[in-house]
Amino acid sequence: AAHADCGPNAQQSAKPAVNPSTATLEAICQGLTDRGWLVLDDALAPTLLQALRARLHELPDHAFHRAGVGRQGDHSLQPDYRSDRIHWLEAAAPAEQDWLSWADAVRQHVNRHLFMGLQTYEAHFAHYAPGQRYGRHVDAFRGQANRTLSSVLYLNETWADDDGGELLIYPDASAPDRATRVSPKPGRLVMFLSEDMPHEVLPAHRDRYSIAGWFRVRGASAW
Ligand code: OGA
Ligand code: MN
Repeated sequence: AAHADCGPNAQQSAKPAVNPSTATLEAICQGLTDRGWLVLDDALAPTLLQALRARLHELPDHAFHRAGVGRQGDHSLQPDYRSDRIHWLEAAAPAEQDWLSWADAVRQHVNRHLFMGLQTYEAHFAHYAPGQRYGRHVDAFRGQANRTLSSVLYLNETWADDDGGELLIYPDASAPDRATRVSPKPGRLVMFLSEDMPHEVLPAHRDRYSIAGWFRVRGASAW
């Protein structure tokens, strides 16, 4: 008790809460079950959100690189179509590890309740400068064992309705041009089934920050 304010315990109490709440886990399962996608505000503790923002903004510019399009062999840079710059999260950075732990708790819960068999999670910070975009795409192709469940967490401190930068999701295969518009509001989490949902990122009038991540099923093919 004598060292309560300055020992390792003090540090522990400042650590962000990395476990999703029961309400968050239930909302994720409900959204995936009902329609295969969901938008959730206040999905994580403010301390965790703040730690992720702090980490993002302490990363130097050279820690980010231009994102490409396509997988392995056909990977290419197409800046008109996709122009964000990314930094892959690593367990060695505490805030990044906290997000990876949070996502892993989601992974385990979803597996337990929806039997999705998700095995791994990978994620990167993404920075879209004003005017940059990501054209319509799907994150995974059916039958290729890879990305199964996509997640996006928005990290800006504020976002006004006329700032642009919406995520457009096209959830209805029978009405391929009918989009749901999602504004990248602070702390908002979006999740969707990777194989089923074409989507795109519209240009914004200001810098747009997020973490995009993917839960994967390990298949027979190499990845
Ligand atoms: C992606 C993506 C959506 C967004 O990185 O694959 O679709 O809203 N991101 O940032
Ligand atoms: Mn995508």
